[in-house]
Formats: sequence, C-alpha cells, structure tokens
Amino acid sequence: MGRGMTATPQPLLRLATPDDTAALADLARRAVSAKFEHLYKPEDFATFLEAAHSDAKVAKEIADPGMRVAVIEEAGALIAFCKLVLKSTLSAGHSDARSPLELKQLYTDPARIGGGLGRRLMDWAQAQAQDLGADEIQLTVYSENFEAQRFYHRYGFAKIADIEFWVGNHCDPEFLYAKRLVPETNSQAQAEQV
Ligand SMILES: CC(C)(COP(=O)(O)OP(=O)(O)OC[C@H]1O[C@@H](n2cnc3c(N)ncnc32)[C@H](O)[C@@H]1OP(=O)(O)O)[C@@H](O)C(=O)NCCC(=O)NCCS
Repeated sequence: MGRGMTATPQPLLRLATPDDTAALADLARRAVSAKFEHLYKPEDFATFLEAAHSDAKVAKEIADPGMRVAVIEEAGALIAFCKLVLKSTLSAGHSDARSPLELKQLYTDPARIGGGLGRRLMDWAQAQAQDLGADEIQLTVYSENFEAQRFYHRYGFAKIADIEFWVGNHCDPEFLYAKRLVPETNSQAQAEQV
C-alpha cells in the first residue's frame, strides 16, 4: 500500500462490555423488528421486545457470568451480535447432550445481511463451545425463517424437536436445532495417535 493510503479496518469482533448496552439493545430491537415485526399484533410484539431486548435486559445479559455476548463493531458502530448461554436450558428431554451450550440470538444489522458477519459470529461461537468443552450447540429458529435455517444447516445443525415460542400472547411453531461437537481433547488425542 502506498504512503498516505489508509486501510479500511476489518470490523472487530469482541466481547460486549457494559458500555455497549444501549447500542446493542438498539441494534437488537432494529434487527428483530426488521425481520419479525410484521408477523405480530403491535401489542404482542411490544411486549416481546420489552421482555427480550430492553436496555435493562441486555445490561443483565452482558454482566451475566453464565453468558457470553459477542459484538462486531465497525467505525464505532455495532453491526452484528450473538449471545451464548453457557449451560443451555433448551434441551429438557430433547437431547442427551451432557454439556450443551445455547446460541441464543444471532443477528446482523438489517443492512448487512449476507455480508459474512454471521459466518464470523458462528465461527466464534463454535470456537467458544470447543474451549468450554461443550458437547452440543443448541439454538431455536422460527419454523418459517428459511434463510436462517439454511445458514444453520450449512454449519451442520439439524432439527431435533418442534417447540413453541411466545411473542406476547401469540404462540409460534419454532424448531430446536442442535449440532453435536467432538470434544477437542479427543480429536487432538486421535490426531496424536495417527
Ligand atoms: C442469519 C444471519 C445472522 C446470517 O448472517 P449473514 O451475515 O447474513 O450470513 P453470511 O453472510 O455469513 O452467510 C450468508 C448466508 O446467510 C443466510 N441468510 C440468512 N438470511 C439471509 C438473508 N435474508 N439474505 C441472504 N442470506 C441470508 C443464507 O444461508 C446465506 O447463504 P447464501 O448466500 O448461500 O444464500 C443474518 O442473515 C440475519 O441477521 N438475518 C436476519 C435475522 C435472523 O433471521 N436471525 C436468526 C434468528 S434464528
């Protein structure tokens, strides 16, 4: 690169801090609304947004030692995020995994869909799961969110159960997806044996 030229910095993936609360909650509400708001009565959707994506809820999640929240930042703005729950609460009878991790939300800014940010977050989530010794990653996806389902299938996720998802007083059919992980120590041990 010649002198005087500046490289466009690669968007930065990092853990969220308390200072990200307002920006992250705002991104989440915009991303969720762009994708799903049209499906619901305004009062149901407002109840859901307040319960799941208020500033207070997001602050609690960032501070929760049982969670890890990742954001991707570009030029000072948050453009994508995902949240991990280290001990998934989704399995309850649907999986025999012993230490499943939950990928709770995965969203890009609506203007950035299809730009590879989701891939970076999924790669990060899978690396975290390996580091934590999780034997499965679980997530839920709306039964008619075919684009996200395609994204998850590409990473080896498969549907393991039909479940419900409540948006205010509205109940949606939702799919529980899971991907089994081979513990890293085992694969290393196997590689060393060869
Ligand atoms: C799902 C999501 C996080 C994926 O991140 P991304 O950065 O768009 O994905 P990538 O660029 O890494 O990969 C592209 C793939 O994403 C998937 N995808 C999901 N929604 C898509 C959309 N609306 N448009 C294009 N691709 C989409 C496709 O599988 C696509 O592959 P293709 O180009 O071969 O069709 C992102 O598209 C998003 O925020 N979607 C809306 C919100 C949502 O549905 N979140 C998941 C809730 S369970």
